[in-house]
Amino acid sequence: MGWLATVKILSGGDIVTIPSKSSNTVWHHATVTRQRRAELNHHQSILLWFTGLSGAGKSTLAHALEERLYQMGYHTFVLDGDNVRHGLCGDLGFSNEARIENIRRIGEIAKLFVEAGVIVLTAFISPFRADRQKARNLVGEDFVEIYCNCPLSVCEDRDVKGLYRRAKAGEIKEFTGISSPYEEPEHPELVIDTTKSLDECVDQILTYLVQRGVYERKS
Ligand code: ADX
Repeated sequence: MGWLATVKILSGGDIVTIPSKSSNTVWHHATVTRQRRAELNHHQSILLWFTGLSGAGKSTLAHALEERLYQMGYHTFVLDGDNVRHGLCGDLGFSNEARIENIRRIGEIAKLFVEAGVIVLTAFISPFRADRQKARNLVGEDFVEIYCNCPLSVCEDRDVKGLYRRAKAGEIKEFTGISSPYEEPEHPELVIDTTKSLDECVDQILTYLVQRGVYERKS
């Protein structure tokens, strides 16, 4: 399988395709397959893709859910926007182009985690529908889009990191919801009202996972 070329948006708005530089590579098929990993883990893997405004509670919810899953014996990992931007995506800012690349990388990494048999939870604003759709296309039916629905005014009031205040003062450019767009999901698998209590939000997702059969014990 060859890797797809990267789409790049130039400052003038033109879209160009950057050809893959990894030519002459051959996909090596693992003998330890996803199915075998699921049997070893006694559960399936899945990608829970949390999207929403900064301050909507994506990371808080993802980590609270992970804690519950861990206590029940499931193998999980949270990929968190702020954390990943300290390392893998530390070279990226917040222009449209940088966010597109950020989400492309996360989609690819999340896919690897799913292959590794892990219940992976990603917490990124991921503001653009097209990028979330690309991640969905990459991962397939195991992609679960969870919209953390929280009014901008509530996020602004919470302002846990003080970033909205700074964005409104013009100190932070291209801030989502203030000076950069957020495109709400049109058909997410789950909409979570994150103005509700954390426990209620976690329970709603756990119920969904039961319906999806994620808990079903593999032999
Ligand atoms: S994304 O748009 O590319 O998906 P990501 O989730 O990785 O964003 O990072 C968002 C986090 O970066 C926010 O929670 C916030 O703490 C921080 N941040 C810093 N600058 C910005 C900005 N201009 N817009 C949004 N978030 C920002």
